[in-house]
Order: sequence, then C-alpha cells, then structure tokens
Amino acid sequence: MGYDVAAVRTRFPALAEGAAHFDGPGGSQVPDAVGEAVARTLTSGISNRGQNTVSERRADGIVRDARAAMADLLGADAGGIVFGRSMTQLTYDFSRALAKGWSAGDEVVVSRLDHDANVRPWVQAAAAAGATVRWAEFDRDTSELSVADVERALSKRTKLVAVTGASNLLGTRPDLRAIADAVHNAGALLYVDGVHLTAHAPIDVTAITADFYACSPYKFLGPHCGVLAAAPATLDQLRPDKLLPSTDVVPERFELGTLPYELMAGTTAAVDFLSELAPGDARGRREKLVTSLTAVEEHENELRDVTEKALAAMDAVTLYGHARERTPTLLFSIAAHDSAGVARALAQEGVNAPAGSFYALEPSRWIGLGDAGAVRVGMAPYTDSSDVERLLAAVERIAT
Ligand SMILES: Cc1ncc(COP(=O)(O)O)c(C=O)c1O
Repeated sequence: MGYDVAAVRTRFPALAEGAAHFDGPGGSQVPDAVGEAVARTLTSGISNRGQNTVSERRADGIVRDARAAMADLLGADAGGIVFGRSMTQLTYDFSRALAKGWSAGDEVVVSRLDHDANVRPWVQAAAAAGATVRWAEFDRDTSELSVADVERALSKRTKLVAVTGASNLLGTRPDLRAIADAVHNAGALLYVDGVHLTAHAPIDVTAITADFYACSPYKFLGPHCGVLAAAPATLDQLRPDKLLPSTDVVPERFELGTLPYELMAGTTAAVDFLSELAPGDARGRREKLVTSLTAVEEHENELRDVTEKALAAMDAVTLYGHARERTPTLLFSIAAHDSAGVARALAQEGVNAPAGSFYALEPSRWIGLGDAGAVRVGMAPYTDSSDVERLLAAVERIAT
C-alpha cells in the first residue's frame, strides 16, 4: 500500500484547529498515539528505574524501549543511544567532554551551513581548550557543501568535524558518507547534526559511519527532547563531568539526573507511528521504518516540487535553496516585502510559515540574508495538496 495522507491526517488532533502547518522544521505536530503515551506514562505508577516494584520495572522498560526504538530509527546500536533535553544541550555536553582531549594547536572544523547548535558549542569548546576553529564554506550559488569544501579545512591536527545532515534553512543534504570518509582519513571524528534530516529520510548512522549523530524527536512527530547515537565503544572513551553516585556505565554516563520517562515513552510511540505510516510487506520495525520513511520522503518531495515550481513562476518571489539533494524545505522572500511581514500576513490566512534565520545564523549571513532570513516552508508527513493550495494562493495575494 502507498502513502495515504488523508488517513495519516486523521491521527493529528492539532490539524482540527484548521491551520496549514508548514512550520514542521521548527517542530512537527504530534499524533494522538504520542500524546497518549506521554499521558499514560505520567498517570501510571512510575518510580525510579529498578526491578522490585511494578512502577520501577515500568520506568526501566520505558528506557530500554526508547533506546531500542531510536536504534531502529537511526540504524544504530541501542547501547549507544543517549537521551537529553535537546540536541543543543547534548551537543554542549559532548563538546565539553570531547574538548578534554584537545590542546593548543589542535583544530576543529565547523561548517558555514550549520544551525548554531552545531557551531557555537564547538567554537566555544575550542576557545576554552586553546584549539583553532576552521570553517568549511559552502557554495553560495549552488547551496552545496561538498566533500572538497570540508577537505580544504582538514589538517593533521583536526580532532573533530561538525557538519549537518541537512540544513534547516536551505534544505541542503551534504554527502555524509563521503564526508565521513574524508574526516576519518584525516584521523578526526565526525559529529553530525541530524535534527533536520531525521524527519525527512530513512537514516542509517552505521552506513554513514558518523561517530556521533544527534537529533530531536520533536521534529519527527515526537515530544521535546534530544537524542544522540554513537557506538558504545566510542562513548566509553569519553569522561563527561558527572555526579559521584551516578552510574558510570554507557550510555547512562552521559544522562545527567533522572530521565524524562514520559518523553521517552512518547519517543517510542513516535517511532512506532512512523514505522506504520506506509504499511507494506516489511516485517521488523527497522525494515518498516525504512519503507515508511521512503514513502514519506517521496510524498514530501512531490509537494515540495509542486510548491517550488509555482513559487518560481511568481515574478516577485526569490527562492534560495538550490542543492541537488535537498529536504522538502523551501526558503523564499517576496520583493518589496519584509519577510517577517509576509509570515504575519500568511498567519492571518491560517498558513503557518514563519520567517527568520531559524538559528541557522551562519548560512543566513553567508547567502546575504543577514539575521532576518526569509520565509520558510517545510513539508511534513501530514502536509497535503490542500495545504499547498492555501499557501500558494496566500503568497500570490501578498505578492500582487
Ligand atoms: C538543524 C537543527 N539543528 C539543531 C537544532 C536544535 O535542536 P534542539 O531544539 O533539539 O536543541 C535545530 C532546531 O531547530 C535544527 O533545526
């Protein structure tokens, strides 16, 4: 069976409010099953993890299930799945833990394409360690960040390269596997920001060979938390600051304080929901996820292509993302209109497409949009052609 967007939409209570949601890159809407899992966890007997009581075993099971679910989603090892408050918090934590091994003269590479959450933690950790920051710059005309762009910033002193799986501003999807090979050939580690990418494509962290891959369930129909995947052996080499009595085992070593059981149960529910989006012959959850997310990708890309073509045909509209491999994310402005005003006008018509640089400050400045950015339109599993028609009609009205 193919992708039935009408059936998918019935599972999202928020859509009954009537808005056309193109704000998924900032955070997706949530299906009923995720909300129910969060509420059920909070209202069932729950204790700290343990094996004595029903409520202890429930907490323990939720943690195990959530690691297994994220491992299936990312093609990673469940023993290397770390939960945190957000990707930003996890990246700050990992930057500090990794920087313990850096010294003056070492180098760290960040990219001009990245969200600030995969830039500033590394820049600040490098400054604290006396390490040098080098920049991988992308092509302003094509929006591409190539392997050569990354290679130019590598040296024998490179300790770590931080690069995005997909730009939340321009949609650009760099060739992660090729970049990983170049980074590993230089003897460095690769930290991938998978926040924007994970919502839009099947992911295989093992095939990418990323050393660290961070993402955020609230971008892929789940609750507000962050997740990092790494090989358990890689995690075992790091010594984050931690409390004396807290466990030193991996991955718990990195999870400070009591875990958010309700958000972890919600994350499992989101992964299960994603795995059922396009039912087919696939058996295990991992296989089902690959099938479903491939169907989601096709659905979203079709909507993106229709939207992009129509926007490109409007004289007053300028589109900014041009990479060959892109997520279904469009960035545009309208001549003689400031983008914040366009977003307000769209909102008045029930079309949620915000304007800004969305914390992707470096790419926004790099392509000349400064800190104000432009209007962003993101497709999600629940987006349908009626949403697109509403968006295009509203943009047309504003532009003329
Ligand atoms: C590409 C990208 N990276 C990182 C982040 C930060 O994620 P979090 O809110 O989980 O810290 C975002 C959030 O918008 C994002 O889009």
